[in-house]
Amino acid sequence: MGVSMYIVEGGRTLQGEVRVQGSKNSALPILAASLLCRGESVLFNCPRLSDVEASLTILRYIGCTARREGDVLIVDTESVTRSEIPSSLMHKMRSSIIFLGAMIARFDRVRMSFPGGCELGPRPIDLHLSALREMGVEICEDHGELDCRVNDVLHGANIALTIPSVGATENIMIAAATAEGTTIISNAAREPEITDLADYLNACGAKISGAGESTVIIDGVRHLSPASHAIIPDRIVAATLMSAAAVTGSDIRFKSIIPSHLESIIPVFRECGCEIESEGEGIVFRSPYRLTGPKLIRTMPYPGFPTDAQAPMMSVASVANGMTVFVENMFESRYSHVSELCRFGADIRVEGRVAVVDGVRRLLSAHVHARDLRGAAALVVAALCARGTSEVEGIEYLERGYEDLELVLSSLGADIKKL
Ligand code: UD1
Repeated sequence: MGVSMYIVEGGRTLQGEVRVQGSKNSALPILAASLLCRGESVLFNCPRLSDVEASLTILRYIGCTARREGDVLIVDTESVTRSEIPSSLMHKMRSSIIFLGAMIARFDRVRMSFPGGCELGPRPIDLHLSALREMGVEICEDHGELDCRVNDVLHGANIALTIPSVGATENIMIAAATAEGTTIISNAAREPEITDLADYLNACGAKISGAGESTVIIDGVRHLSPASHAIIPDRIVAATLMSAAAVTGSDIRFKSIIPSHLESIIPVFRECGCEIESEGEGIVFRSPYRLTGPKLIRTMPYPGFPTDAQAPMMSVASVANGMTVFVENMFESRYSHVSELCRFGADIRVEGRVAVVDGVRRLLSAHVHARDLRGAAALVVAALCARGTSEVEGIEYLERGYEDLELVLSSLGADIKKL
């Protein structure tokens, strides 16, 4: 991970049209799932991100090949030579645990290290492991290593998740796609990325129904064949660009977003006074002269307000009129952007999972450090409206999930450079 920073001259109004990149959180599980479809899968709209690169490094280590043509990724998983993932690769990306279900479906024995904690606090994988155990996987956890084997046969199971975990739902769906018999996941995560993964697997010949609902049913099939698939647009990147438009009082047009994926985000921007309307194939986003702070934002599993949009939305609340209360219900420590937003002059107090934002008239430029992906996005949003020249360090976090954000924002008229 290289170290880089953004230099932002705040206060420019944005205008024009923007195409939203493909979703990181769809691309990662789909790349892992491609392991089951021996042969060449073609993934359209696949964003160029360091987390996608980390997944490709894992696939190549296992023996697969991958090449990119623009935003199209061609992954060939026909030949595999290794059934383990070393800790150096597992630690590059915390969501590398998403490879577990695919690996165990392809190999009888798999070794990988724990993904470990991350910037958002401890990231347990107990739900992933207990579900796979119910499906016939014997898992030995030793000194941060996972040694997994299927002694008899990988089989379907009735799995009731205590939390609708996105990653656990995905791992189970992938492992169950070619397991013997039927798997029923209750209290499954309902995120659009789950539906996208099911669409890819079904295109490869899987029999998955109910994705996007609380109960997902997977009838195991003997084998999957490779397929082409277009990854959905990234709803969190869309929310980030909306935040950037809102704080700069801008009107912009979005070309490729799926409004239904933003059903809990759009009403919050409307509460801020923004107008959002469908127009032709896209949507038009218009900002008011002065934003109104939304009263309460509670992060919840989909279709609730996404935890990933909490940080950029806090930058919006920081310059809106009135007080906004945030309640972060998904992760223990997801307020690392708060101290940095305060350097811009934002008025924010945190108490446990609650943050209270008292909107100020304007932010002033600052030198700030990002410590996680979405926090980095929040700092860029704040810098876009802060008076003066700001420096945002830690852009390597941002690049895990945003493709060329500085170019996207410059094309809309922002004054932003990467160093
Ligand atoms: C995914 C997203 C991430 C998003 C998160 C919540 C990807 C690659 N990442 O992460 O951007 O912020 O969903 O929408 O898609 N949990 C357990 N035990 C487990 C698994 C999870 O206790 O075995 C807890 C987690 O600590 C967390 C909650 O469940 O508090 C939700 O996590 P989960 O939905 O699993 O998030 P990820 O899949 O890791």
